[in-house]
Amino acid sequence: MNEDRRCDSSLSQEQRLALEKAFSAALDYRSTIKDRPARPTLSLDDAVERFREPLSEDGMRDVDVIEHILRCADGGLHQMSAPSFFGYVLGGSHPVGVAADILVSAWGQNAGSAFETPAVTGMERAVCDWVIDLLGLPRESGAGIVTGASVANMVGVMSARNALLAERGWNVEKNGLFDAPAFPVLISGEAHSAPYAALRYAGLGADRVTKLATDAEGRVAEDAFREALETCQAPPLVILQAGQINTGAFDPFEALIPLIKAKGGWVHVDGAFGLWLSAVPELKHRLACVENADSWAVDLHKWLNAPFDAGMVVVRDRAPLVASMSARGSYLPELTGHWEPTDSTPELSRRARGIPSYAILRHLGRSGVRELVVRHCSLAERLAGKLSREPGIHVLNEIHSNQVALACGDRERGDAQTSQVLERIQDRSKVYPTHGEWAGRRIIRASIIGYAMQEDDIDLLASEVIEAWRYVQQSTT
Ligand SMILES: Cc1ncc(COP(=O)(O)O)c(C=O)c1O
Repeated sequence: MNEDRRCDSSLSQEQRLALEKAFSAALDYRSTIKDRPARPTLSLDDAVERFREPLSEDGMRDVDVIEHILRCADGGLHQMSAPSFFGYVLGGSHPVGVAADILVSAWGQNAGSAFETPAVTGMERAVCDWVIDLLGLPRESGAGIVTGASVANMVGVMSARNALLAERGWNVEKNGLFDAPAFPVLISGEAHSAPYAALRYAGLGADRVTKLATDAEGRVAEDAFREALETCQAPPLVILQAGQINTGAFDPFEALIPLIKAKGGWVHVDGAFGLWLSAVPELKHRLACVENADSWAVDLHKWLNAPFDAGMVVVRDRAPLVASMSARGSYLPELTGHWEPTDSTPELSRRARGIPSYAILRHLGRSGVRELVVRHCSLAERLAGKLSREPGIHVLNEIHSNQVALACGDRERGDAQTSQVLERIQDRSKVYPTHGEWAGRRIIRASIIGYAMQEDDIDLLASEVIEAWRYVQQSTT
């Protein structure tokens, strides 16, 4: 047996070397990230080949393992933390959050019980209070820190299911869904796939929903909504969104929520990224009255730029949240009077994933959070302005927040050209936007959300799009 695999809590020289190697490689990576090609140069097959050797009998020295990982990962990392990454909707893992995340791993806390891990609970509770306060959500709400908006949507939908069925005299936690009274589910026709997944996980079915008609920006259309609501025979679950994935638009909460409340329904809002505009006094009118909903899903690893993975569910009435999530066992610690992670999240054992967000919020303060959101929204306008001046490039959305949807060329040949433009941009590897579909067109989507993004990064993206578009036109005429 390898001498260094001893089970001693003090650090051996080898273990110390391994930790130091990892720290210095992390520093090196983050300080050179802007000089690296935006996307991996290593193919997936080659990466799998490199790592998937038969597991050796004797193992490896600690520091050799870290060196092996660094060697084999070389070229295989996507520079998602760099301001050249405009794909999907991903925050850039803020360095102060990464620093705190190292402590999370080193401390090795199972953060499922407040009683066992008081320091973690203290920090995570502060994160819940601060985020609720920043977003202007009801103070008394229950909250859970989960892996991201997918799970936050699931927990919100499960809380809604619990409450709507309890109103009808049905205890879903005890009796399940067999023979339960049905209730209608209304959801935006342009919702993200995550709330649909949430409906499936909650046993409510993704296909029995009423899909709500939307306007050109992907917002639920008010007249069609009224009609859909009239057909509801029981109080419905209505899923709205703050931040449409392609356009960044917001549903008209001010008009819709009172109608749903009048029907006794539950409003859940998927606000994975867009809910953060509520933290900014001069922008919050764009999602006015979103705070009147019943539950909200919001990511910490998107606009707050927490390292992956972290998101939050907030539920106005804590009781259905706790009823749907808690799992108790006789061997577990007694509940404390404090915020109990396992009461509002699906996991029992859990990473202390709120701690990096604590560090980022402490570092940024209120004004730093506002500055981040305002900067990204104005950078999105800058990008849209630059690109719409180039003949043949179409910005398909109004700028509501941080998302920009682009199409190239005319309808007939444009989809193929748009794909070619994106391919060229990605191949040149200076910036990395990703694809999508919007308004019947294939699109290039740019999400402006990384903490380090500045005007220069937007100008580089704009020039790369224009260069690729001119190139594609020349090569296809
Ligand atoms: C609007 C919206 N909802 C939900 C999600 C899912 O979030 P996560 O990937 O954090 O689970 C996303 C992710 O991009 C999103 O944009």
